[in-house]
Amino acid sequence: MAKRIDVTGLTAYYGTHKAIDDISMHVEPKSVTAFIGPSGCGKSTFLRTLNRMHEVTPGGRVEGRVMLDNEDLYGPGVDPVQVRRTVGMVFQRPNPFPTMSIYENVIAGPRLNGSYKKSELDDIVERNLRGANLWNEVKDRLHKPGAGLSGGQQQRLCIARATAVEPEVLLMDEPCSALDPISTLAIEDLIAQLKSRFTIVIVTHNMQQAARVSERTAFFNLEAVGRPGKLIEIDDTDRIFSNPSEQATEDYISGRFG
Ligand SMILES: Nc1ncnc2c1ncn2[C@@H]1O[C@H](COP(=O)(O)OP(=O)(O)OP(=O)(O)O)[C@@H](O)[C@H]1O
Ligand SMILES: [Mg+2]
Repeated sequence: MAKRIDVTGLTAYYGTHKAIDDISMHVEPKSVTAFIGPSGCGKSTFLRTLNRMHEVTPGGRVEGRVMLDNEDLYGPGVDPVQVRRTVGMVFQRPNPFPTMSIYENVIAGPRLNGSYKKSELDDIVERNLRGANLWNEVKDRLHKPGAGLSGGQQQRLCIARATAVEPEVLLMDEPCSALDPISTLAIEDLIAQLKSRFTIVIVTHNMQQAARVSERTAFFNLEAVGRPGKLIEIDDTDRIFSNPSEQATEDYISGRFG
């Protein structure tokens, strides 16, 4: 089931460098929230604190609280590997497992988590490739390498791989930045469908994309290079793009930033 995210007072460090400071927000289940803001303001860092990927970076450290419904992701005894299964992630550059076939890419996660009959695996592959709008393009070459697909197809394969573990939240860090406009629209259509099943957070530098895909938009900013990034405001996307509360948001979305 898609879950609600509640973040309170989240601060993240790389060693002694404070990258983001005191961020609080909530994200409704089965919604799409876009993160926008200038380079270096901590969008990716914040995203990675939502599935305990930040602490994988040497020196990576987090203060504050992230709740997924009633579960504290940083609570004692919580297994970060399990958290990453529950909160899936899609990266900027499509990263299919290069030596694996399309079929094996999709079942990589489920196969780690349990034992399945061949017919069940076939079903997982078909269901998730259909869900990623990729099935028709690859159904006749499921056992060919994932690396042989186009960039947009590879990204949809990565989305199928992420959804195959049935996460409750899907985090996407600039998933379209390496893609052409047609593939980008395919991913945006897909996001619109996926939100009926998942809670989705997407980082994007493309304002039109944020406006097209999300219900809520969060604007992050940093006062100066070297200072920590902050959440300036989060509101309905329509409102952020028409009548934001903060001058800094207005300046950024109208291109007057800097
Ligand atoms: N692995 C790392 N080690 C040390 N500092 C890092 C690391 N990754 C990011 N940072 C620093 O943390 C801050 C936030 O970076 P982050 O990548 O989260 O920004 P961003 O908003 O995602 O930027 P972009 O839009 O360019 O992707 C920056 O000051 C950056 O230099
Ligand atoms: Mg980033």
